[in-house]
Amino acid sequence: MRNAKSSLTILETDRMILRFQQASDVEFLVDLWSNPEVTRYMGGSRDQDTLRSGFEETAKDPYAERFVLWPLIDKDSGKPVGHCGLLDKQVEGKTEIELVYVLAPTAWGRGYATEIGIALKRYAFGEMSIRRLIALTEPRNTASEKVAVKIGMRLEKEVTRPGGGIRKMYVIESKDGRAAA
Ligand SMILES: CC(C)(COP(=O)(O)OP(=O)(O)OC[C@H]1O[C@@H](n2cnc3c(N)ncnc32)[C@H](O)[C@@H]1OP(=O)(O)O)[C@@H](O)C(=O)NCCC(=O)NCCS
Repeated sequence: MRNAKSSLTILETDRMILRFQQASDVEFLVDLWSNPEVTRYMGGSRDQDTLRSGFEETAKDPYAERFVLWPLIDKDSGKPVGHCGLLDKQVEGKTEIELVYVLAPTAWGRGYATEIGIALKRYAFGEMSIRRLIALTEPRNTASEKVAVKIGMRLEKEVTRPGGGIRKMYVIESKDGRAAA
């Protein structure tokens, strides 16, 4: 288990830090995932008590999972503004690694999702040696699609998720394990 504050950092961009979760992030994350506006195209808001107990568990051992979402911190304010990362998912019988970006509304429209998306793609292809990333976007989620395209992904197909929802599947592959563009 790593305890030093600096060891919490996963990656850093000009304006943001992505780091392992701490107990102090729990209330921000509960608000984020129970916000109907934020979760509109992501299956709707989740129950706050269930969210809180899940995030409290994660804070006890934030290094436990390889594929997980991490708090995104705005360097200027030092406060969390999002929850981004990599999740492993079964998509039509195949294991895929999904790049996920979820920001608080106060942080929208400033290019943050694109900035962290590019950094996460490089981290996945570099440090994590992942060869292929996907993004699953709800067809009405124009902003999310634009982010996928801006980080270099191409539309591969539409898929039906287990609950019946349709998602556009964007994909980017790394040749030789290095970050593309
Ligand atoms: C989708 C989301 C991550 C975008 O974050 P963001 O930091 O505002 O995105 P960026 O500022 O990097 O913008 C990327 C592009 O989307 C565009 N965009 C942003 N919000 C938009 C909106 N509501 N409608 C249409 N386009 C939008 C931007 O103009 C930009 O395109 P441009 O460069 O051509 O102008 C953010 O809206 C969000 O967290 N939404 C809720 C969670 C979610 O749906 N996540 C995606 C799950 S797949």
